[in-house]
Amino acid sequence: MKTLLITGGAGFIGSHVIRLFVKKYPDYQILNLDTLTYAGNLENLEDVESAPNYKFIKGDITDEKFIDSFFQKWSIDGVIHLAAESHVDRSITDPMAFIRTNILGTVNLLNACKSQWLSFDDKLFYHISTDEVYGSLGDTGLFIEETAYDPKSPYSASKASSDHLVRAYYNTYKLPIVISNCSNNYGPNQFPEKLIPLSINNIKQGKEIPIYGKGENIRDWLYVEDHAHAIDEIYHKGANGQTYNIGGNNEWKNIDLIMLLCEIMDRKLGKEPGTSAKLITFVKDRAGHDLRYAIDSGKISKELNWNPSVTFETGLEKTVDWYLENNLWLEHVTSGEYSSYYDKQYNR
Ligand code: NAD
Ligand code: DAU
Repeated sequence: MKTLLITGGAGFIGSHVIRLFVKKYPDYQILNLDTLTYAGNLENLEDVESAPNYKFIKGDITDEKFIDSFFQKWSIDGVIHLAAESHVDRSITDPMAFIRTNILGTVNLLNACKSQWLSFDDKLFYHISTDEVYGSLGDTGLFIEETAYDPKSPYSASKASSDHLVRAYYNTYKLPIVISNCSNNYGPNQFPEKLIPLSINNIKQGKEIPIYGKGENIRDWLYVEDHAHAIDEIYHKGANGQTYNIGGNNEWKNIDLIMLLCEIMDRKLGKEPGTSAKLITFVKDRAGHDLRYAIDSGKISKELNWNPSVTFETGLEKTVDWYLENNLWLEHVTSGEYSSYYDKQYNR
């Protein structure tokens, strides 16, 4: 039986990766290591929590001693590393949390693999990263794996730094690694501070939908389950030392996306067309707001035969349905620390 460590498995993407792997690989022992920050929620994993091949362990990747003892206790064959501080706006107000978890936490894991793995045969450290490391595009062009790094926010700089360190351990110590850099994910279980779930939640409550600047920034959106499938392909078939970009071939201007979402919400809530769109409010722009991200996923498509399978219209409908059906989940994650963060962020 192989033992696979997935970090950050109680978060948005991590919980979808855990669910896929627990169900698809009954002969893997899957360990979910997560410290349960505001973004980590075990309710995301209720349907797999009693599976015999799954175990949750609460722990902080920034705690070097804990990580060392964890690797001594468990004989880990592979790591899929998702644990991170992930929200750009929070990185603008509190960069240190991002430096600690995204950089130091990653190095603690790399060091533990390097010192605990007596042989590197059949071992793998898979680092999950973001397209934001490449910086911002103008009106044309796509990020490819060779695009020079040019991160602009404390979040993307911390992810770029961790990517460099992962590659440095491959070059220097021959640690077997792969990295993937993915575009914007959306879907069930995403914390409602991110654009799509925040807007759905606000429309539900008749609250304003805050659009930064003029809403002209462009993102490439990918349904989270498609990302989880890409991670499965890369973990099992990716070549040692390689990087794979993952995207949805699905670019949307923020304002156009929100108009589409408003149409869906009006229909689902039985409201007059145009009702939700009245909630759109243009607010102060994000500091250093990247204009456009867009991914060329040709490499993963050609080499690993992965392509996105969920259309944006279907994915958005599924996402809206999930948030409309999961009031309790929304109540739990938005109470406490998040409500004061929201008030501060949007000056209410
Ligand atoms: P998330 O914020 O929803 O979840 C992060 C998880 O990491 C949480 O469960 C949290 O409790 C855990 N965590 C945070 N600090 C920790 C620590 N010190 N020790 C242990 N656990 C800790 O994030 P997400 O959106 O699911 O993103 C997961 C990964 O994917 C991140 O590395 C992110 O950079 C990357 N990524 C995200 C997107 C996206 O659109 N969300 C796109 C590309 C890449
Ligand atoms: O590109 C991948 C990245 O996508 C991931 O690495 C990050 O972890 C993830 O958070 C996401 O970053 P973004 O900053 O692109 O996502 P966010 O949902 O915060 O914002 C999407 C766009 O919407 C962006 O242009 C900012 C804008 N926005 C966001 C919020 C929260 C608004 O206009 N209003 C808002 O209230």
